[in-house]
Amino acid sequence: MMLRKSVAQVQEETRTSELKRSLGPWNLVFLGIGCIIGAGIFVRTGNAAALHAGPAVLISYLIAGVVCAFAGLCYAELASTLPVSGSAYTYSYTTIGEFAAWVMGALLLLEYGLAASVVAVGWSGYMVSLLGDMGLHIPADLTGPTGHPIMVDGVATGASYLFNLPAFLVCGALAMLLVIGVSESAKFNNAIVAIKVTVLVAFIIVGGFIILKNLPAYTPNWDPFIPAPTGEKGEFGWSGILRAASIVFFAYIGFEAVSTAGQEAKDPGKDMPFGIIGSLLACTVIYILVSIVLTMIVNYKMLNVPDPVAVAVDAFGPQWAWFAKTIKVGAIIGLTSVILVLMYGQTRIFYTMARDGLLPKPFAKVHPKFRTPYINTMLVGVIVACAAGFFDINTLGDMTSVGTLAAFGIVCLTVIWLRRTHPDIPRGYRVPLYPVLPALGILSCFALIFTVETRVLVFFAWYTGAMIVLYFVYGMRNSELAKGHFETGEGEFPLFPEDAPLDEKGEPIVRP
Ligand code: ALA
Repeated sequence: MMLRKSVAQVQEETRTSELKRSLGPWNLVFLGIGCIIGAGIFVRTGNAAALHAGPAVLISYLIAGVVCAFAGLCYAELASTLPVSGSAYTYSYTTIGEFAAWVMGALLLLEYGLAASVVAVGWSGYMVSLLGDMGLHIPADLTGPTGHPIMVDGVATGASYLFNLPAFLVCGALAMLLVIGVSESAKFNNAIVAIKVTVLVAFIIVGGFIILKNLPAYTPNWDPFIPAPTGEKGEFGWSGILRAASIVFFAYIGFEAVSTAGQEAKDPGKDMPFGIIGSLLACTVIYILVSIVLTMIVNYKMLNVPDPVAVAVDAFGPQWAWFAKTIKVGAIIGLTSVILVLMYGQTRIFYTMARDGLLPKPFAKVHPKFRTPYINTMLVGVIVACAAGFFDINTLGDMTSVGTLAAFGIVCLTVIWLRRTHPDIPRGYRVPLYPVLPALGILSCFALIFTVETRVLVFFAWYTGAMIVLYFVYGMRNSELAKGHFETGEGEFPLFPEDAPLDEKGEPIVRP
């Protein structure tokens, strides 16, 4: 359970990786933004404002942003300290040990796999709305989560949904694109990021201009800024703001997807912190500004819809009708990139875990022509598509938030653990205000976890328990590390003395 990979081992794996090294620093920032801006801002902000925080969703964004900044700085320290590339999974494996890495792998399945499903459901909402504008109506029962009542203008029709067909199809199509290859996918991603950022910036500028031109007409929407609590936990007031923070936390997920691309980055040591912090900062500014415009231009009560940003643009006035359609197109394109990057991250985590023997070998099988882990990618496509097709966005989104918050908490813990056990190893970047900042990271992640609904927490407990059992049944027995299949290469030295190879007297061979 406590077996650790040495840094030399991970470097060796990185060298022997069959994946192409094609991503530079700006590709990584774009990869980050491609993953970050998505269903969180385009869809879930509406639900968080309408049902939980009102205009104060702005404060929720600030809270969630600060929590992510704590974790982001910890990610940056780990990425610069351990001369290895890889996700939180690899950091755990290199520092705390195999069991922690396995748990991290399970949490990352929620963070990446399930998040891709959430975004696909958001994609479906904007797509159905845009097609409706164009007079193309998909049968209503094929546009929502199985068994949920079909609502029209907030009123139940008595019928229920069969399946979310658009969400299912988009996942399948993107899985095929990922099978074809990362280089093509990264170029595709850069173009899409430019489009979605442009759409949001245009929304901020046009909306901001309209608001400033006639401020007294819009200030009533911010009165009260924090709606009075209803008495139910998580409905308005400060408990609502915190509940909304765990919802909009989803909007920040993805900045660390940058670290999962380590094996395909040109210079992981320098480019990783740049990609992580850069993409997080840019998105925080955009989110705060979009939330201000959104909640000023329409009353928060009107935002519990599948396409809140488009609803806000409708309120700009009839002359902006074309802009609402443009927003929908931009959102659809933007959400597509998020699904793509999240699925990409998930396949690469499975790839690494399979190379470690913790998952069956076919997960690491690389396509001879495309050089991508194609079996793994197709399987991820099926899982993500089914979750998106059958489940509702709020349940999936809350599960993603909880899994990710737990993963971020462990990342912050890893920084403290490494500073205490190995204070002297060189660190390219150090978290400021140590140990306060990582400690606040851990505390804030766990505080947000407990703001979600109880049924989500119960699911999370069952999921984690089942994954731990699976470790003892499968992971532990098949681990390549446990079988001793990783040899420290000649001339290379592990990070920790206890991982060092032994000389003929049984003494560890240390760096001269
Ligand atoms: N942060 C990503 C989104 O908002 C997952 O969709």
